[in-house]
Amino acid sequence: MKIFVLTGAGVSAESGLGTFRDKDGVWTRYDLNDVATPEGFARNPALVRDFYNARRANLAGAAPNAAHLALARLEAELTARGGELYLCTQNVDDLHERAGSLRVIHMHGELAVTRCNHCQATWSDTGVLAAETACPACGRDQGARPHVVWFGETPLFMDEIEDALSRADLFVSIGTSGSVYPAAGFVTEARAMGIAACEINLEPSANAYVFDEKHYGPASEVVPAWVERMLK
Ligand code: APR
Repeated sequence: MKIFVLTGAGVSAESGLGTFRDKDGVWTRYDLNDVATPEGFARNPALVRDFYNARRANLAGAAPNAAHLALARLEAELTARGGELYLCTQNVDDLHERAGSLRVIHMHGELAVTRCNHCQATWSDTGVLAAETACPACGRDQGARPHVVWFGETPLFMDEIEDALSRADLFVSIGTSGSVYPAAGFVTEARAMGIAACEINLEPSANAYVFDEKHYGPASEVVPAWVERMLK
């Protein structure tokens, strides 16, 4: 069996990383136009760097929860049985990797990677983003930004993702509000190709009506129970 799993902020919520659109979510406290667009970065790079430095600090103190661990187990056991788990995440945290998932596609980039806004070189970096940081590739400063896909930018790995989706037997969406495209459109694409679709979330998402199987509750409880059933 080939399973395509899409995860969102809800899978990391119980690890202490905030979601975006829930009550008290990140976008209720910050204007995304200021901190998550190329225009916002051009206007006030210091504000943007501070925002992502705070998120890097939060991530350093976070740990994977039972949902991340269950998905790592699903990958290992499916692979051992000749199946496949394609794990595509909108999350920029590395909690899937820290839980043991071997292949994780970060369509919205990675918080622990810095990108040079001048030459687009990227490098692993859990430190503080600073204007003075010189790019290791081109040597210029003032260009350090997080390797995170902002609004108005194109998500990463889209050809590979579309290919994996088309080959899946089951599409599963976990912990996402289903309001940001293109990820929010994957379920409709899957259903149009005759692929079964399952939603796991705290509450029905914006696309809940498109799924043919739904499980609601905290990811740390619902995901391990679903994985257990899948492996039986
Ligand atoms: N367990 C399961 N689901 C949860 C939990 C939990 N413990 N807590 C919250 N949720 C659900 C919420 O009900 C909501 O539907 O997770 C979803 C989170 O939705 P968003 O905050 O919109 O996050 P996400 O869908 O990942 O956002 C997509 O938007 O701002 C951008 O680039 C950012 O990748 C992000 C994208």
